[in-house]
Amino acid sequence: MINFANFYTLISQDTILQPWLNTLPQQLTDWQNAEHGDIERWTKALKKIPEGCADNIDLKTSVTLSNNTPLADGQRKKLENLLQAFHPWRKGPFTVHDIHIDTEWRSDWKWDRLLPHITPLKNRSVLDVGCGNGYHMWRMLGEEARLCVGIDPSHLFLIQFEAIRKLMGNDQRAHLLPLGIEQLPELNAFDTVFSMGVLYHRRSPLDHLIQLKNQLVAGGELVLETLVIDGDENAVLMPVDRYAQMRNVYFFPSARALKVWLESVGFVDVKIVDECVTTTGEQRSTEWMKHNSLPEYLDPNDSTKTIEGHPAPKRAILIAKKPD
Ligand SMILES: C[S@@+](CC[C@H](N)C(=O)[O-])C[C@H]1O[C@@H](n2cnc3c(N)ncnc32)[C@H](O)[C@@H]1O
Repeated sequence: MINFANFYTLISQDTILQPWLNTLPQQLTDWQNAEHGDIERWTKALKKIPEGCADNIDLKTSVTLSNNTPLADGQRKKLENLLQAFHPWRKGPFTVHDIHIDTEWRSDWKWDRLLPHITPLKNRSVLDVGCGNGYHMWRMLGEEARLCVGIDPSHLFLIQFEAIRKLMGNDQRAHLLPLGIEQLPELNAFDTVFSMGVLYHRRSPLDHLIQLKNQLVAGGELVLETLVIDGDENAVLMPVDRYAQMRNVYFFPSARALKVWLESVGFVDVKIVDECVTTTGEQRSTEWMKHNSLPEYLDPNDSTKTIEGHPAPKRAILIAKKPD
């Protein structure tokens, strides 16, 4: 069972986040009381992950931890088997005690694309909406963020995050809560809010942008990353059925349309800082994610299209500010 007590203590001492205690404990108790498929098996494996403070931790250029004296082969194999129990590993990569968790996504490539454009994270409090297993939160700590709070409704991602956190010596600067954005009150509390790979999963994208704005302090920064299409301010795709085999997908605007959407809900200084087509180098199957991946989702005769005939995945990063 995941224990959120440390997080409650932390926010009880933070005047801006303290009001969250009015709703959060009940939501997380409800979550704990609900059935969660494989969570018992995962929790058992999580308990066996050794809690350690690694001698060397790099979060600045990767997420890597090691000891000065490497683990014995048997110990390393045991740890590798435990980590494999949390298959599929989608976001990463992580290197722990010479075990390279080669994840489906090169999430570090996304980080490298956005980092030059954002306000430096040093001493900032950050909310990462749809944080996956928390890979980017570790990179935010590498940039000296003061506090990183991630929310993501996926149970497996929470377990993967807790496994890495245990290996990191139970670092309390990053926390992942199994919540959706719609469950958050208007906290107006974070210096930077990230929403990456979430907007196209939201039925009502403008409401999503408003919810993100409501989590920021005045003058705070939004980092928004999502799938886009080519086109002008009016271009939006709403796939009738699946997109690259994904269900639960709704709106894919052009980057220019997204800029207009952000401005229409009150963001200012909106900038499109990056647009790029997702390659099969960035998203693919690996030993740690054995299911199908992007190569299988593209038209085998025309890689500019998905197998459903939509434009192949292209992603944009936009930066926007909540007015002072
Ligand atoms: C494509 S992944 C992106 C993960 C990570 N942000 C990244 O960029 O690599 C989208 C994530 O959004 C999460 N998600 C889906 N609906 C959500 C919601 N309502 N609130 C918060 N997260 C959500 C999913 O569980 C998933 O982990």
